[in-house]
Amino acid sequence: MKIEQNKSLKEYNTFGINVIASEFAEITSESELINILSKKNQKELFVLSGGSNMLLTQDINVLVLHLLIKGITCTEDSDDTVLVSANGGENWHDFVQYCIDHDYGGLENLSLIPGYVGSAPIQNIGAYGVELKDTLLSCEAYEISTGKKHIFANEDCKFGYRNSIFKNEEKGKYIISKVTFRLSKKNHTLNTTYGAIENALADHKITNPTIRDVSEAVIRIRKSKLPDPSEIGNSGSFFKNPVISTNHFTQLQNSYPQIPSYTIDKNNIKVPAGWLIEQCGFKGKRWGDAGVHEKQALVLVNYDNASGKEILDLAKKIQKEIEGKFDIKLETEVNII
Ligand code: EPU
Repeated sequence: MKIEQNKSLKEYNTFGINVIASEFAEITSESELINILSKKNQKELFVLSGGSNMLLTQDINVLVLHLLIKGITCTEDSDDTVLVSANGGENWHDFVQYCIDHDYGGLENLSLIPGYVGSAPIQNIGAYGVELKDTLLSCEAYEISTGKKHIFANEDCKFGYRNSIFKNEEKGKYIISKVTFRLSKKNHTLNTTYGAIENALADHKITNPTIRDVSEAVIRIRKSKLPDPSEIGNSGSFFKNPVISTNHFTQLQNSYPQIPSYTIDKNNIKVPAGWLIEQCGFKGKRWGDAGVHEKQALVLVNYDNASGKEILDLAKKIQKEIEGKFDIKLETEVNII
């Protein structure tokens, strides 16, 4: 394993923020991972996967481990289902495409999400009515402090909306090395109820969609709305969609009758943060190289050389305005480092 000194992380985070890692190593096998964990403790390591859900605001003065352990295996499960395991360093979208190529159903709505397989469970990635937790069977993870491998069943991960045990009580304590999904081999249950998917299929006159049709529809929608990180630095949704009380929502509705919403239960309603941000006039605005995407106000962007601090200052400005106008506290979805 080669350790590089003073390495720029600009190419390793989708926001394209230029911070420096004092030491940097690529981990391509489990034995390399086990070896390094036997030598370093938690405080001496910074784990980097696809770098697609983080905002780097400072240099990293410990060893950065870039996790690139690859490999996909399939095991028979039942007449209708298959177990598919992917190592953490597999690119998420390539893995979804592998499943579609083999006609394994369940992940197609999660097409084109940036990042690697190993970080997908941390925030329970989700899009267009589907979340990772819907098909995840288990994940394997190395405990950084002991170097021991643990298996987390779906329920052990305590998944929630963009949330899991790995963002809470076990934050920073594990490296997810492998994720196993139970996927359908036939009679796929398609999830096309999300309005945008129905419209994208109708536009192509598709009435009896396959999982590939759904994947392609999702790809078209994402490309039309979300900036491609290889062109404009970003981390997808910067904030979570806030959940507010029904009473609070009713008050807001009096002033803003067109406010969109999703009912969670009889006391709670989710409101799209993108709508709130647009109402405050931020959509498409730019301060230096830090900005709010012109087609999706929930996405903050780095046009070229913004620092993490400039993006963070913009995020704080947005949070302050939203709180002042709507009395809602926006929580960040990306991890601020
Ligand atoms: N909206 C606006 N203005 C905007 C953006 C959105 O008014 O600038 C309104 C839309 O008109 C719509 C509503 O907000 O009424 C919801 O918009 P959209 O369907 O685009 O979804 P979202 O709530 O903004 C969430 C996820 C996305 C995911 C999409 C589709 C979160 C934080 N974000 O966005 O996830 O792709 O739904 O399922 O839950 C991500 O996590 O990085 C991400 C992109």
